[in-house]
Amino acid sequence: MSMATTMLVIKPLFSPLIHHQSSRTARLHHHTIPTPLRRVPTHLPTSLASAAAAAAPPSAAESLVDDFDPELPIEEALTPPSSWYTDPSFLDLELDRIFYRGWQAVGCTDQVKSPQAFFTGRLGSVEFVVCRDDNGKIHAFHNVCRHHASLLASGSGKKSCFVCPYHGWTYALNGALLRATRIKGIRNFDEFGLIPLKVATWGPFVLLNFEKDVSPNQEVESDIAAKEWTGSCVDILGNSCIDPSLTYLCRREYTLECNWKVFCDNYLDGGYHVPYAHKGLASGLKLDSYSTTTHEKVSLQICEGGSTDNADDFDRLGVKALYAFIYPNFMINRYGPWMDTNLVLPLGPRKCRVIFDYFLKDSLEDDKIFVERSLQDSERVQIEDIVLCEGVQKGLESPAYCSGRYAPTVENAMYHFHGLLYRNLKG
Ligand code: FES
Ligand SMILES: [Fe+2]
Repeated sequence: MSMATTMLVIKPLFSPLIHHQSSRTARLHHHTIPTPLRRVPTHLPTSLASAAAAAAPPSAAESLVDDFDPELPIEEALTPPSSWYTDPSFLDLELDRIFYRGWQAVGCTDQVKSPQAFFTGRLGSVEFVVCRDDNGKIHAFHNVCRHHASLLASGSGKKSCFVCPYHGWTYALNGALLRATRIKGIRNFDEFGLIPLKVATWGPFVLLNFEKDVSPNQEVESDIAAKEWTGSCVDILGNSCIDPSLTYLCRREYTLECNWKVFCDNYLDGGYHVPYAHKGLASGLKLDSYSTTTHEKVSLQICEGGSTDNADDFDRLGVKALYAFIYPNFMINRYGPWMDTNLVLPLGPRKCRVIFDYFLKDSLEDDKIFVERSLQDSERVQIEDIVLCEGVQKGLESPAYCSGRYAPTVENAMYHFHGLLYRNLKG
């Protein structure tokens, strides 16, 4: 039996904003709309909407925020309570107030180097796809088919258009709906393109902004996005950390059984744990030279490289290692001929993924022995950190522990991170 296929070809039309949905429908289905897309019904006067929000009782998670006091000086402060690292509703609050606001690093430009290249990802409940169209322009969209919500693209690669695996609706790389299969008889149907996200690139990084106000022109100028992303630190990072001459080499991913902040805290302890937990790494660093500075949304930890006791000339770390943390979850590590970045993605209250991207000086790319040995050393450190972080998570879940203390002269980057979290979580 042959099945007739009715096909409607729709002229490419960029679909700007959110669904054509009445405010009444939007209210009825409020709980089904992903947080970044939620908006106050437009017919409500703003003052009334804010008054309603103000009158709402604080959620359980919101009341946990005040269990940390960022006003106390580091010498007196307690660290945030374990509930920040274990409570599922706290993660929801973090997604809403931290990750769905402002710029977030999601990948590197190498992943969309040429026309038609794309990659997909997920942050919280937001599924996204980033692609480069035939004219070289970068786009980002919610990776969700407008028909019945199937995920559209998966993984990464090259495509001339996105064909939904479910019923075949087809979208151009600029998001326009090109073809909707078998929709004969449908009425009031237009502008059903992919829902865009704001996207920018800065140096080798791709940034997305999940906030709801998206103009049809999604690509934001690099300088503006970088300033918003890194605050006052854009020049310092641009001059001393991000070297555009380095070549993208490879990616390593790790899934950790711990809250995403446990990994960040571990990174931000000013090298405190290095002599105890990373004996191999410690031998290549002059730990007494460790210094930390904090800026608006960034902290920088710098340590001089020391001579290793290797019999050979292998020197992965060079004369200086620089560790930059860009709030809330991105790290740039610059040492010797290397730069690597760590992107920490929350997967659940006690689970996260860390994505390492490695960049290297061109001239060393073919030095297989150096590359292999460097990656092995880096992986050893990472595995040591995973053991520490997963142990900490178990400790945080123990009834024996609620809050800890800071070592005031070394852990100021961590204290700074917790203060930023507090201020964002308070909205
Ligand atoms: S869900 Fe994509 S075509 Fe039906
Ligand atoms: Fe470590």
